[in-house]
Amino acid sequence: MQLAVPGSSEKMMSKAAGSKADHVFLDLEDAVAPKEKVASRRKIIDALKSLDWTGKTRCVRINDLTTQWAYEDIISVVEEAHEHLDTIMLPKARSASDVLFVDTLLSQIEKKLKIERRIGIEVLIEEVEGMLNVEEIAFSTPRLEALIFGMGDYSASQGIDPKVIAGKSGYPGDAWHYGRWKIAVAARAAKIDAIDGPFPDFRDAETYSEECRRGLLLGFVGKWAIHPAQIEPALSVFTPDPAAVAKARRMVEVYAQAEKDGLGAIAMDGEMVDAATVRMVQDILQRADSAGL
Ligand code: COA
Ligand code: MG
Repeated sequence: MQLAVPGSSEKMMSKAAGSKADHVFLDLEDAVAPKEKVASRRKIIDALKSLDWTGKTRCVRINDLTTQWAYEDIISVVEEAHEHLDTIMLPKARSASDVLFVDTLLSQIEKKLKIERRIGIEVLIEEVEGMLNVEEIAFSTPRLEALIFGMGDYSASQGIDPKVIAGKSGYPGDAWHYGRWKIAVAARAAKIDAIDGPFPDFRDAETYSEECRRGLLLGFVGKWAIHPAQIEPALSVFTPDPAAVAKARRMVEVYAQAEKDGLGAIAMDGEMVDAATVRMVQDILQRADSAGL
C-alpha cells in the first residue's frame, strides 16, 4: 500500500517514516499549496536524507507537466536525494510522451551524476485522456513500475458525481469497475503494478476495506492510504491469507505429483486441479513470497 504524505509537513513525513506503510510518497502536488511548492522541495530532500525509511519504497510525487514546477521538482529532488529515492510519481499523465519527458530528464540527471541505480517512474491515470491512452502509457518506458488509478481527479475529468468517490452514490454497480479493469489489463500486460488510488473518508474503514478488496479481486496489488488509519486495513486486505497460501501451495504439490503420474487433471478436496487452476494461484504465491510468508 502507498501512504500519501504532504511534502510541506515535516511532522507527517516523520510519522510516515515510522509507520508500517511499505511505500510512501512525499507529495509536491495537490497536498501542497502553491506558495509552499518551492519550500517543500527542500523539506522533502531533508526528510529523504535524514529519516530512516528502511523497508519502504521512497517516492516523490511531482507536479503535473502543465505547471511551471514539474521540471524543477525532478531536478532538485533527484540531484540532491537520488541515493535516498526509489521512484518519481507523475500525476495526470495523458499520453506516453508525458512519461517520456520524465524518463528523458531522469536519464540526463543519471548520466551527469553517474547514478547507477535507475530511478523508477509511477504514473497516475486520472485524466480521461490518460484512461484512453493507458495501454501506450503502460508500455512507454522500461522505467515505468506502476499505474495508479486516481479516482478523485478522474471523477472531475469525466464529470463523475463527487458522491461516487465517497461511496454513497447509489450507482447501480461499481462505478470504478471499467477504470480498474482497464488499468489492470494494461498493467498486467506490461508486467507492472496496478495500484488503487484514494478513498477520502478515513474514518470509514469498512467502505475503505471493501474498496481495497474490489481492487485486489481484479489484480490490483495495493491501494493508497491518505491517513495513518488506512494503513492497517490496506495491509490486511493485500497481505495474502495464510490459509489461502497453504491451499495454493498444496495445489501446486498435488498437481506436480499428478503430472508425474501422467495425469493432467486431478481432484483435491472435491475440486478439480489442472494446469489452469495452478496458474490461477501463481498470483497469491508471488504475493506470499514478496510478503515473506
Ligand atoms: N501521513 C503521515 N501522518 C499523517 C497523515 C499522513 N497522510 N495524515 C495524518 N497524519 C498524522 C497527523 O499529523 C496526526 O499526528 P499527531 O497525532 O502526531 O498529531 C495523526 O496522524 C492523526 O491525524 P488526524 O488529526 O486524524 O488528521 P489531520 O487533521 O492531522 O489530517 C488530513 C487530516 C486529511 C489533512 C491528512 O490526513 C492529510 O494531509 N492526508 C494526506 C493528504 C494528501 O496527501 N493528499 C494528496 C493525495 S490524495
Ligand atoms: Mg490527482
